Amino acid sequence: MRIDVVSIFPEYLAPLELSLIGKARQDGLLELNVHDLRSFTTDRHRTVDDTPYGGGAGMVMKPEPWAQALESVAGAGMDSKPVLIVPSPAGEKFNQALAYELAEEQQLVFACGRYEGIDERVIDWAQDHFTVRPVSLGDYVLNGGEVAVLAMVEAIGRLLPGVVGNPESLVEESHSDGLLEYPVYTKPSAWRDHDVPPVLLSGNHGKIAQWRRHEQFRRTAERRPDLMEGLDAGVLSRADRQAL
Ligand code: ADE
Repeated sequence: MRIDVVSIFPEYLAPLELSLIGKARQDGLLELNVHDLRSFTTDRHRTVDDTPYGGGAGMVMKPEPWAQALESVAGAGMDSKPVLIVPSPAGEKFNQALAYELAEEQQLVFACGRYEGIDERVIDWAQDHFTVRPVSLGDYVLNGGEVAVLAMVEAIGRLLPGVVGNPESLVEESHSDGLLEYPVYTKPSAWRDHDVPPVLLSGNHGKIAQWRRHEQFRRTAERRPDLMEGLDAGVLSRADRQAL
């Protein structure tokens, strides 16, 4: 996969050189380029923003530097249009299903807005070159798209083949089956008056699996009742339905 990120704060994306994503880049599993929006300006002050038409607080990002930047990264010779992800609190909600969907793409381009946002005409213009998806991390407002990009690139990048050493860990984690993950424990079995649940020491794999599934349901019902409503009956086994 190829990922391009356009930002006025390219240094913000430095953590993508670390850990699993950094290693994936080194191993050639992921090509990731960060571009400075200001290098696509033509004036002496490298201006990227201006006052909003219609008035109001704050500044809006000018369209032309964005068009120049996006034209420079729109992948020539790709089979399909790249996906342009515009992080915004006004976008569709990012979740694990979207991470899986985006992990199938050849090229993702992230456009990090700042200030009050990017001139809307950029979004309209970009439809000719990209599949455009405004995406929100959640119902709160960040100062810009960079932190959202860090989160999304990590969530998507770890789904690429070979990035996570043991692919089984992707199957068992939270949200892979619509439920939250069961709790985990390690040695020592007795610690500061808190014991590991005895079933995990029993060696009975059937009972352990049953207990873990039950914990997934219990946690999800307690912490995320909204997920219980959306549970796909198709993924529930007969034992699951009894546990509900
Ligand atoms: N930019 C500002 N707020 C954001 C959010 N909640 N999600 C994604 N990008 C954003």
